[in-house]
Amino acid sequence: MNLQTLERVYTNYASVYDQTFGRVFHQSRESAVRRLQVSPRERILEVGVGTGMSLPLYPRDCEVVGIDLSLGMLRKAQKRIEDHKLDNVTLQRMDAGDMDFQDNSFDIVMAAYVVTAVPDYRKLVSEMTRVCRPGGRIVMLNHFSNGNKFIATLEKMISPMCMHMGFRTDLSLHHVLEGTSLLVAREEKVNPFRFWHLVECVNTKNAHPAFQGSV
Ligand SMILES: C[S@@+](CC[C@H](N)C(=O)[O-])C[C@H]1O[C@@H](n2cnc3c(N)ncnc32)[C@H](O)[C@@H]1O
Repeated sequence: MNLQTLERVYTNYASVYDQTFGRVFHQSRESAVRRLQVSPRERILEVGVGTGMSLPLYPRDCEVVGIDLSLGMLRKAQKRIEDHKLDNVTLQRMDAGDMDFQDNSFDIVMAAYVVTAVPDYRKLVSEMTRVCRPGGRIVMLNHFSNGNKFIATLEKMISPMCMHMGFRTDLSLHHVLEGTSLLVAREEKVNPFRFWHLVECVNTKNAHPAFQGSV
């Protein structure tokens, strides 16, 4: 799906998102932010921020920037910022696969249910790594394809259909991390049904080659 179509798909979801997808996955968003243990004054980038459901969960003494492609989603997120008086949060409309930020701009980059929603996950991961400082954290909350052969086959079968709805189901964490400088520090399965993964990585870019990449 190209960026224009994707923008339209998510803008169409915006009015029902919080009551549907948003609500079902809220518990895992809460776990993700809680486990981050954000320190005061850390700079956080949330890519594909959507309607901003996680924004009120961050401590008020950190700075949060949310980006998204969809105007409809961003309008909802802006309303949430105003309702909760989140003066530590700003939003920008931007393609997460081609960001305007300078290298090493953030301490933490969060992608909640985004890695399988973008047209090109390699561009996304490469950009998240670029804008995150060396030693910073990159967190992905997402469904990744299952190790179980039967389920993995089902995921492959339904993926083309899901793509019309704005996401894919056949992407493995292995493929996402392959060739990157991301080192998995923590991985756990989260609700609903423990089918979704919370993966916290350390950005080892610029580190000595012996400390880069795979675990
Ligand atoms: C499934 S929603 C997740 C929203 C939010 N993170 C959450 O937890 O509810 C995926 C979001 O990613 C956004 N998105 C998809 N591709 C994008 C891209 N290339 N750049 C920026 N945002 C993108 C969509 O517009 C949508 O808001």
